[in-house]
Amino acid sequence: MTSKTTASLMAICIACATAAVGQTAIAQTTSEQPPAQAGAGAAAAVSGDAQQQPAETAPAADAPAAEEAPAVQEAGGKLVLPNGQDITPDHMENGRWYTAEDIPTFKIAEDGTLDYAAFSGYRRYSAECHVCHGPDGEGSTYAPALKNSVLKLDYYEFQEIVASGKQEVNTAANLVMPAFGTNKNVWCYVDDIYVYLLARGAGDLPRGRPAKKESKSDDFAAQEDSCMNG
Ligand code: HEC
Repeated sequence: MTSKTTASLMAICIACATAAVGQTAIAQTTSEQPPAQAGAGAAAAVSGDAQQQPAETAPAADAPAAEEAPAVQEAGGKLVLPNGQDITPDHMENGRWYTAEDIPTFKIAEDGTLDYAAFSGYRRYSAECHVCHGPDGEGSTYAPALKNSVLKLDYYEFQEIVASGKQEVNTAANLVMPAFGTNKNVWCYVDDIYVYLLARGAGDLPRGRPAKKESKSDDFAAQEDSCMNG
């Protein structure tokens, strides 16, 4: 996160439009894009299943900045992340898939059908994270590509950052990752967002709105209800 100062500063200038006036000289020295086509993500927020993907996320093949090395390795019949975390789906609980170590994970059927929790994560990501982190976990000039972050952070580190936030110190740009621990629209779905990003990072899920998904199970609905209304 070091060399991003200028780009980030500019990103903030654009986000705040009016603040940009005094910063024109800086802004003009870079050719970076503004963060995450900010308006699109914000506007797309919490609508339901009918939510539209912003147009610019349309087809686009896989990430240009993609990994040279395979993101996920197979070892002894298991799928393992570069950070050593096993992501092989093992059992279901409350309508969500978990690994043998009870870490949330995703499952994509052979015909491409995505499990419901990961689909839920896609929706929540698009509503709450997209605005800064870019469409489909791809990142922006303002905030990192979370589809890559989940390959290096482990599940608990991810949770901790989403709960408590993070602030880049030591820069005039003042990058801020907000704390979401008290925001139920995020916190009740944090595992869903995590597994959606895992599916993206593992390279198993194409960009855009997942085409085929499982329907919501009663278990999932009950758990969701008790979290949102509890
Ligand atoms: C207001 C903009 C903003 C929003 C909204 C936002 N983030 Fe962030 N996030 C950031 C910035 C900026 C950073 C980098 C902060 C730093 O490095 O200090 C970051 C960093 C992170 C990181 C650490 C990534 C890494 O590789 O170290 C995670 C994980 C993360 N965000 C998850 C989320 C999730 C999940 C959501 C949606 C629920 C979200 N963020 C919404 C701005 C945002």
